[in-house]
Amino acid sequence: MKLKTKFDETVSIRNISREDEEKVQKLIQDVLADQKMEEKGRQVKSLFANPSPYIISCIIIVFIGIPFNLPVVAVSGGVLMSMFLFCKGRFCEYWNEICDYLSQKHCNDLDNISDYYLSDHNRMCLIAEFNKHIVGIICLRSVDDTNEMSTVAEITRILVNPECRRLKIGTQLLSELVVMAALKGIKTIQVTTHKTNKFGIEFLTKHEFKEVSTRSYTKHFPLEFLLAEFQLDLDSL
Ligand SMILES: CC(C)(COP(=O)(O)OP(=O)(O)OC[C@H]1O[C@@H](n2cnc3c(N)ncnc32)[C@H](O)[C@@H]1OP(=O)(O)O)[C@@H](O)C(=O)NCCC(=O)NCCS
Repeated sequence: MKLKTKFDETVSIRNISREDEEKVQKLIQDVLADQKMEEKGRQVKSLFANPSPYIISCIIIVFIGIPFNLPVVAVSGGVLMSMFLFCKGRFCEYWNEICDYLSQKHCNDLDNISDYYLSDHNRMCLIAEFNKHIVGIICLRSVDDTNEMSTVAEITRILVNPECRRLKIGTQLLSELVVMAALKGIKTIQVTTHKTNKFGIEFLTKHEFKEVSTRSYTKHFPLEFLLAEFQLDLDSL
C-alpha cells in the first residue's frame, strides 16, 4: 500500500518481516535513547523547580537557627547542602526506575521483535518505509493473548524517526493499524504513556484517544512519575 506524506513523498506501510529485524531494532534503540535524554532534562528541571525542598529547608533553618541562636549563614548553608545531597540520592533511585520504564523491557518484544509479532495472530507490527529506510513502526497485541475472542488490544510501540516527524507518518501508521485491528474484530485499542510525553499525548488526543486513567509509576520525594492510559473506541469512529 502506498500513502502520501504531508509533503507528497511516498511512504509505504507494510507488515514487518524477519529481514527488517536489524533496522527496526536500531530505530527503536535510537528513539528510546533520545526519549531518555529528553526525559532526564525534564526531570532535572522539575526537581529544581519543585518548591517542597526549599520550603522544608526554610522551616528547618528557622527551627534550628532561631532557638539555638546559630549564625544564619552557616545554618542555611548546612541545611541547603544536606537537602541537596538528600534530593540527589532520591533522584538517582527515581531516575533508575524511570530508565527501566523508558527502556520498555516490560513489552517483552525486544529480543526478536519481528518473530514476536509474526509468530502470533493476536499481534501485529507495521512499519513505514521511505527510500528503503524504516522511518516508523507501530505494534499492537491483544491484552489477553490466550483468548481468541479478545476484543481489546494495546499499542506496545509507536514511534517515528525524529528526522521524519510531523509528516503524518505516525498518523498513517495508526490509520492502517486501526483498519487492520477492526478487521480482526478489535473494538478497543489501549495505549499507555508517561504524563510528561507531551507530544505523544498531543498525537493521541488528535486521534480521538481518550484518557481513561492516571497511575503512579514511581514516587521518590519530591518527584512522581505518572503514567496515563488512553483508549480508542473503534465503534465510535
Ligand atoms: C508521537 C509520534 C509517533 C508522532 O509521529 P509523527 O509522524 O511525528 O506524527 P504526525 O505527523 O502524524 O502528527 C499528527 C498530529 O499529532 C500531533 N503531534 C505530533 N507530534 C507533535 C509535536 N511534536 N508537537 C505537537 N503536536 C504533535 C499534532 O496534532 C499532529 O498534527 P499536525 O501536524 O497537523 O499539528 C512521534 O512524535 C514519536 O515517535 N514520538 C516518540 C515516541 C512516542 O512518544 N510515541 C508515542 C507514545 S504514545
